[in-house]
Amino acid sequence: MTTSPVPRHIAIVMDGNGRWAKARLRPRSFGHSAGRKAVREVVEGCLRQGVEALTLFAFSSENWRRPDEEVGALMELFLRALDKEVDELHEQGVRLRFIGDLAAFNAELRKRMETAMARTAGNRKLALNVAVNYGGRWDIAQAAREAAAAVARGELAPDAIDEARLGGWMSLADQPPVDLFIRTGGEVRVSNFLLWQIAYAELYFTDTLWPDFDQACLARAIEDFARRERRFGLTGEQVARSV
Ligand code: IPE
Ligand code: IPE
Ligand code: MG
Repeated sequence: MTTSPVPRHIAIVMDGNGRWAKARLRPRSFGHSAGRKAVREVVEGCLRQGVEALTLFAFSSENWRRPDEEVGALMELFLRALDKEVDELHEQGVRLRFIGDLAAFNAELRKRMETAMARTAGNRKLALNVAVNYGGRWDIAQAAREAAAAVARGELAPDAIDEARLGGWMSLADQPPVDLFIRTGGEVRVSNFLLWQIAYAELYFTDTLWPDFDQACLARAIEDFARRERRFGLTGEQVARSV
């Protein structure tokens, strides 16, 4: 019930790439490329601090609505990153997983995502989940579809659908719940990222733009988290007694 100093699972909305590029009079895609360094920084930081799971929001189901040129540049970037980073992640003991509706991506990208997941499946140091074409509502809807299918097959009674059962079909059900939710870039919103999974997460917002986020920024967020009192519905007195 008490707060552990290091969160087991951190989720990050990596926002602010466009503004970072604009401030440098460069195209938005320049900001997205620059964001790759910040990804390496947080992976490194999580490995050092013993975080078990890190979930990054890379592309939302709403981001398809951006200009074609930007969406194309992002897809290119994902392909390049998959080519270049997977070896090192594998060596570092990182298990890579992509969550979201992957069917929307072209066959080549999908194949590379699947290869990277299969290759790193046995790693145990850090679970790195990358959310692509992901939406929190999509996640809940796909879990509900699974439940309905189990009912239709006669394997499940509707009354047996409770939080634990439905939660078992949500993305990341096999990982600890999100303890710390970070959003960079100054906006104070969730933007349809993990919804179910952040039910009791501590929220942390920073004005730092994603390409500037580094290990020191992550350490500050973790320090802030360590100072929070997580009560999970109890009173402060009850929590104090349970330590
Ligand atoms: C986040 O940065 C990255 C993606 C959504 C892919 P933005 O591109 O949203 O950056 P801002 O919010 O325009 O600065
Ligand atoms: C959320 O950022 C999605 C990702 C970081 C991938 P956006 O920049 O798309 O969010 P909104 O649209 O400003 O809420
Ligand atoms: Mg944004």
